Amino acid sequence: MPQTQAQTHLDASYRDFLTPALDLNDKTILITGGTGSFGKHFVRTVIERFTPQKLIIFSRDELKQYEMAQIFSPEQYPFMRYFIGDVRDEDRLDMAMRGVDIVIHAAALKHVPIAEYNPFECIKTNVMGAENVVRAAIKRGVKHVCALSTDKAANPINLYGASKLASDKIITAAQNMGGVDGPTFSVVRYGNVVGSRGSVVPFFKKMIAEGADHLPITDARMTRFWITLTQGVNFVLSSIAMAKGGEIFVPKIPSMHTVDLAKTLAPNLPHKIIGIRPGEKLHEVMITTDDARSTQELADRYVILPSNRVNLARRWHEAGGQDLADGFSYCSDSNPEKLNTAQLQALLEESQKGA
Ligand SMILES: NC(=O)c1ccc[n+]([C@@H]2O[C@H](COP(=O)([O-])OP(=O)(O)OC[C@H]3O[C@@H](n4cnc5c(N)ncnc54)[C@H](OP(=O)(O)O)[C@@H]3O)[C@@H](O)[C@H]2O)c1
Repeated sequence: MPQTQAQTHLDASYRDFLTPALDLNDKTILITGGTGSFGKHFVRTVIERFTPQKLIIFSRDELKQYEMAQIFSPEQYPFMRYFIGDVRDEDRLDMAMRGVDIVIHAAALKHVPIAEYNPFECIKTNVMGAENVVRAAIKRGVKHVCALSTDKAANPINLYGASKLASDKIITAAQNMGGVDGPTFSVVRYGNVVGSRGSVVPFFKKMIAEGADHLPITDARMTRFWITLTQGVNFVLSSIAMAKGGEIFVPKIPSMHTVDLAKTLAPNLPHKIIGIRPGEKLHEVMITTDDARSTQELADRYVILPSNRVNLARRWHEAGGQDLADGFSYCSDSNPEKLNTAQLQALLEESQKGA
């Protein structure tokens, strides 16, 4: 594969997460939340690399599907299918998963303040939705289910994070429910996606484009993990390829102070400190000290295992997994891999290409 500009700039800190490769040719794949930022990039990636049997988009809003079908039309890409459905509706998921090999579960309510204000809705989509995905996947004989999670699920302090932690538990525990021929269930957990809908990068860019005289910063000490959509999609595919069932996969990715992100986007704009918002952490953590005791390290990722699955831990040790040092945690603050300005620029360029 040719080196991209981003890889050249990001050198050692850029991991492409391309291996092990998952072959999607002739497979039927369903993605919940397929019209979202991740879903669209996933579809673009699949189309570039494979010819699946069917690639099913599952989401609620017909307008988003209509617009997506203008870009990825079933006429040009005959394997594309657009399914209106809600993950709260098990019957609809059950119908959509007939003949499906792989389910990527990306549908979620993901905005922290919205989840705080509408807790019942957040639980219905993020928690009940995960349960419905599990039930339908087992019933329909799906081979792999991979659910997307977030760093906010580790030691959560807001309902969004707590609901994703509950979802992670439902997905990983499902490994015990499907029987020996059942699906492999796994979770991928990662940090902020550069340029995804509603995130800080498009927010800052919009303010800059509209001629703002400053950028708001919640706290100058704040740090976050950063990943591109391309890395996220590759990470999901390679994690499915290596999943034995019941894991949470965490990529090794760099972190950065939010204030440095603002400086990179607008070097000459002053900052105004507005204070940390309710439900926000100063730093995000992807692996807590407690989780670290049942986590193994690979070259480009960590694998969090259910603490009661001794055989699974043995299989991962046999596959090269290394135990972590006592007291280890994977936190955006103490992460030794920090993005510098040039590296962030390269990530931004790369995310623009996928926009
Ligand atoms: N973006 C990030 O920075 C980030 C970081 C870490 C993890 N994640 C996780 O990655 C996943 C994808 O995120 P994203 O950035 O692609 O989100 P997004 O752009 O907001 O897309 C969310 C998708 O979910 C669909 N959806 C929402 N509620 C649904 C429901 N009840 N039933 C069916 N579909 C529903 C939406 O379409 P409709 O509204 O039309 O249904 C949309 O297609 C999420 O699970 C998120 O928690 C994201």
